[in-house]
Amino acid sequence: MKICVIGAGYVGLATGVMFGKLGHEVVVADIDKIRVKSVNTGRLPFYEPPLERELHRLVDSDKLVATTDVQDAAEDAQVIFICVQTPSLPSGRIDIGPVKAASKTIAKALGKSDRRKTVVMKSTVVPSTTDSVVKPILERYSGKKAGKDFGLCMNPEFLQEGSALKDSMEPSRIVVGSEDKRASRELMDLYRPIKSKKIQTDLRSAEMIKYASNTFLATKVSYSNEIANMCVRFGIDSQSVLEAVGMDPRIGPLFLNPGLGFGGSCLPKDVKALKDKASQEGYASKMLAALLAINNQQPSEGVRLLEKALGNLAGKRVAVLGLAFKGGVDDTRETRALPLVIELLGKRAQVIAFDPMAMANFIKLMPSIQYAQSITECLRDADGCIIQADWPEFKKLGKKEFSLMRRPIVVDGRRCLDPEKVKRAGARYFGIGYGLAEQ
Ligand code: NAD
Ligand code: UGA
Repeated sequence: MKICVIGAGYVGLATGVMFGKLGHEVVVADIDKIRVKSVNTGRLPFYEPPLERELHRLVDSDKLVATTDVQDAAEDAQVIFICVQTPSLPSGRIDIGPVKAASKTIAKALGKSDRRKTVVMKSTVVPSTTDSVVKPILERYSGKKAGKDFGLCMNPEFLQEGSALKDSMEPSRIVVGSEDKRASRELMDLYRPIKSKKIQTDLRSAEMIKYASNTFLATKVSYSNEIANMCVRFGIDSQSVLEAVGMDPRIGPLFLNPGLGFGGSCLPKDVKALKDKASQEGYASKMLAALLAINNQQPSEGVRLLEKALGNLAGKRVAVLGLAFKGGVDDTRETRALPLVIELLGKRAQVIAFDPMAMANFIKLMPSIQYAQSITECLRDADGCIIQADWPEFKKLGKKEFSLMRRPIVVDGRRCLDPEKVKRAGARYFGIGYGLAEQ
């Protein structure tokens, strides 16, 4: 089948590569010329090695191409996926400008083509967007009717950055929302080779499933941080507490790792967007407000631990390890490293930072601090270090690295080190939720 994916971001490229691997002809269309050029040479515009390897293979064998001619790509395809960004506005509401623009382009393609097509909304949008914004644009600019002349589905994406390809090929579930049985059946058929649970529902429920999922994940993280903040003050290690909590099958062990808060392009954005949508409909969500408030205060918990170890931070050299919103990616959208560094600078600390992959992106957000080219350069002569992202290389820190520091003090902002090992390697260990000796 001919598939057009609009948006060469994480979701668009993971979707495109997944359908390419299933044997379909895929065109990825984006208005960003640089991204399109990069995709056509088999290179991703972000760091995701397994996805890049597959992309390379598909581009080499002409099974996937990218283009800036979005309308032409949509005109030629049978199924069109909308995978453009839906970023937060300052109010918390999402900016659906890119979704509207893409819908208008698709509508023109629908208007010009005689063949029935199915349009699939994959971007995360608040309930009612697909039927009250996307559908009217598609109908108005094509002169055609949804359900009769073209199909329309909502198919939320659940992939995690860092495992985009695996999550696309083996998703926890596939949700297809539609008011149109024919379109829904066509999309289900397209997904048939993927052996995951499949749920058919209506458009608004599909939109809501995505928000209900991401806000639950965010709730688990904020809950873990709340428990950790208590444990550290009670002289308890939250790790053992949360491990035991997670053994209850009704709770589960994942997403219970305390740290400096949740970042990334989606969890913060989606919590804010659902809270805003609920308030527009007259419902003030106290829970979503609380989990955002906990998240906002969490970088300060890391700074508090540093101050506990070092006293006044003015003039102290602080090494920040990890600038991405989590280890394994180069994405710095909503990274907790930003409020962390801003707070450290506010306390007049001298900040030096390092990340294995995300430095170029972080420099754009914060050009004025010092950057190191390696872990050792970052730690040399530091009065303390704080781990902000759980990169595997940080988990290997030991005697050799700590001996470079002026004061071997480690604040584990992601609970990714073994406190006992750190202590045996000659450093003082402070961790989020670690209330045992030293604190
Ligand atoms: P992204 O910002 O990485 O990529 C979006 C792409 O769309 C950009 O390359 C942009 O140039 C392109 N674009 C914008 N307007 C366009 C237009 N009119 N025509 C053609 N191309 C256009 O976004 P992303 O991270 O892939 O996220 C896309 C959507 O999926 C968002 O709604 C997001 O919330 C959701 N989502 C993201 C993830 C993730 O891990 N990143 C996971 C699940 C869901
Ligand atoms: C998240 C969801 O996990 C995906 O299912 C969803 O599809 C995606 O958002 C999206 O909608 O875009 P992702 O943004 O890749 O995926 O990041 P996560 O792995 O969920 O991590 C988000 C943040 O929470 C990170 O800052 C991470 O460090 C933090 N986190 C995560 C914790 O602090 N503790 C945990 O136990 C887990």
